[in-house]
Amino acid sequence: MTETQGDISAEIEAISKEYDASGTVEHGVRLDYPPYRSSILRHPTKAPFQLDPEELELWAPVFGQRDVDPLESDLTIQHRGEPIGERMVVAGRVTDGEGRPVRHQLVEIWQANAGGRYIHQRDQHPAPLDPNFTGMGRCLTDGDGFYRFTTIKPGPYPWRNHQNAWRPAHIHFSLFGTEFTQRLITQMYFPGDPLFALDPIYQSIVDPAARGRLVATYDHDLTTPEWATGYRWDIVLTGSHRTPVEGDVE
Ligand SMILES: [Fe+2]
Repeated sequence: MTETQGDISAEIEAISKEYDASGTVEHGVRLDYPPYRSSILRHPTKAPFQLDPEELELWAPVFGQRDVDPLESDLTIQHRGEPIGERMVVAGRVTDGEGRPVRHQLVEIWQANAGGRYIHQRDQHPAPLDPNFTGMGRCLTDGDGFYRFTTIKPGPYPWRNHQNAWRPAHIHFSLFGTEFTQRLITQMYFPGDPLFALDPIYQSIVDPAARGRLVATYDHDLTTPEWATGYRWDIVLTGSHRTPVEGDVE
């Protein structure tokens, strides 16, 4: 029997009530979150393996400043023509828990196009590909921890968690620190998305305030006249107000 949105929403509601009644505060993502069906089988079941940091340094990636071209932060200029959709800027600051800037950090993003389609062989749903949009970009944070991308607002897309399952529009973010083990992967969402309550990935952060930290703010100061709308999204790497991260990516 195919499960419906109603079935999944009932499970989300039950977990949410259980969390509210527990009186505890969770800052992170639940890796084992049954409404997100594939998390049941693929979440880690053992404690993280402790590595010798010195040994790891021999294998860690090295990101040279020269390898990241500033043009790579503009996802709208990677092809001969302009991509279709709402041009937007997303910018913010990466800090640690004390508000100190995380400087010269590699920030990578990937996302669906305006029609909600990824260029990936596993994404064959009948939305158009955009020949002028690949959906990947990267940049380095500056000396004050700021990053900035120009892109196209992604559309929501269907996935096969259950019947009629749709992901809220989102941009995937990856940040690398100075060590391989510091990599952080998460998703940024857009304010007021009607799919929030229905999405088991967004809801796998059971604390409402914590999942709210994944939602960007519309920022008219970032909006550029006659050019692009602007969204502000800050990322906090540590502490009780840190940005929730995920152990895996959808
Ligand atoms: Fe996605």
